[in-house]
Amino acid sequence: MLISEIVTRRSIRKFQAKEVPRAQIETMLAAARLAPSGTNKQPWKFIVYRGRAKKEFVEKMAEGLTRESDGTSMVLPDSRWGLPDAHNTLRIMEEAPMLIAVLNTCGKSILTPLTRDQRVTEIVDSLSIGAAIENMLLQAEREGIAALWIANTCFAYPELVAYISTEQQLIGVIAIGYGAESPAARPRKPLEEILEYRE
Ligand SMILES: Cc1cc2nc3c(=O)[nH]c(=O)nc-3n(C[C@H](O)[C@H](O)[C@H](O)COP(=O)(O)O)c2cc1C
Repeated sequence: MLISEIVTRRSIRKFQAKEVPRAQIETMLAAARLAPSGTNKQPWKFIVYRGRAKKEFVEKMAEGLTRESDGTSMVLPDSRWGLPDAHNTLRIMEEAPMLIAVLNTCGKSILTPLTRDQRVTEIVDSLSIGAAIENMLLQAEREGIAALWIANTCFAYPELVAYISTEQQLIGVIAIGYGAESPAARPRKPLEEILEYRE
């Protein structure tokens, strides 16, 4: 039998204004800390934005999307197809009462080119951070907290790392709060498509 939170968790894109108490955020972080990580590096850091700081964070995201949409100094020119979705994510970030920025403490700026070795290290660290985020989301589900995992911050990368004031790599943000929607399960690929046995 599957763990019930794995089954019931949803990405939530409509939020009530009410903030999540610190105790519950720290329970989510307790779950994140227990995630496995390559060589147990635990290459993660979490910064909670609320109130005025959260509003400023969202303003920086909006600034970045405006710059990216101008087309003059794009960070991700080959990903411009993703900009409408990023604008939708911006709307969700505005509505969510709290944002948790997730940093790769061992990562370089996405604007810095990588050697092959650095790329492999970055993949391993990113996977470790993904495991920590999933633990957080499952714990949030257990606590009745709604969440959205957001990677569209990549379009506003320079503006957001400057605002955070960090040299570390911004992985993304988790919007948290209390949900104002109960979406149905989104489709998944059938098992036959993703699983293969070779004997
Ligand atoms: C790494 C990652 C990045 C994501 N980035 C965004 C995002 O920027 N904006 C958004 O609305 N949803 C984002 N999502 C949520 C996915 O769209 C969602 O997980 C997927 O559609 C499946 O829906 P479910 O989470 O309700 O099962 C992201 C999810 C993951 C795992």
